[in-house]
Amino acid sequence: MKKLVIIGASGHGRVIADIAELCGYHEIVFLDDDENIKNCGKYLVAGTSCRVGDIDSDVVVAIGNSDSRQRISDSVDEKRLVTLIHPDAVVADDVVFGAGTVVMAGTVVNSGTRTGKGCIVNTSSSVDHDCVLGDFVHIAVGAHVAGTVCIGDRTWIGAGATISNNINICSDCMIGAGAVVVKDIKESGTYVGVPAGKIRTDSFGRKAGQ
Ligand SMILES: CC(C)(COP(=O)(O)OP(=O)(O)OC[C@H]1O[C@@H](n2cnc3c(N)ncnc32)[C@H](O)[C@@H]1OP(=O)(O)O)[C@@H](O)C(=O)NCCC(=O)NCCS
Repeated sequence: MKKLVIIGASGHGRVIADIAELCGYHEIVFLDDDENIKNCGKYLVAGTSCRVGDIDSDVVVAIGNSDSRQRISDSVDEKRLVTLIHPDAVVADDVVFGAGTVVMAGTVVNSGTRTGKGCIVNTSSSVDHDCVLGDFVHIAVGAHVAGTVCIGDRTWIGAGATISNNINICSDCMIGAGAVVVKDIKESGTYVGVPAGKIRTDSFGRKAGQ
């Protein structure tokens, strides 16, 4: 009997629960640090994330905010963190995903790519050949990352954004929805537009993600 704890009772968590069921998990419970949340869709919220040590199960952290996802993931024994891949994702044989990474429906991840821990490859996005994603990177819905791109830890590529090939993006960036990145990004911050330009020296929008 495969049992999974999902930390983070949210819409993103429910998407992960769907994938987990398709991957053979029969028992799924949520934990959330908001004690007022008792259910997540059809699933029970069994308490706060402190309870994770009491439950004998695999674990996945379903929190969009990269810093929170990292903090909670770091508090869980890495051996318990599972990688979940939707059966309708197209993933090359040699792709390597770090522990706790989730890969949603309709994605394509091509040959030679590897990710760090706790990444999100969200619905209908693509990551082409020979890319390197750091820890806790989020490729949002419909974003496309061309070949041989390197993305630093905790960077969020916004919905529908495009990263051109052979680009390096440093850690702790927020790339806005619909942006097109055509040059290396060497300073953390928030970048939007076509071609992408910096609008903030922090990644506030990334931090706002739940
Ligand atoms: C980039 C982003 C984080 C900026 O958020 P913010 O820091 O709160 O910035 P604001 O909303 O205050 O916008 C600041 C300016 O940038 C512009 N802007 C914001 N996002 C933009 C975008 N994606 N493309 C172009 N311009 C954008 C705003 O229009 C505003 O311009 P103005 O000063 O001329 O009025 C946010 O707009 C965004 O794109 N988030 C991505 C969300 C996403 O992809 N979610 C996916 C979930 S899977």
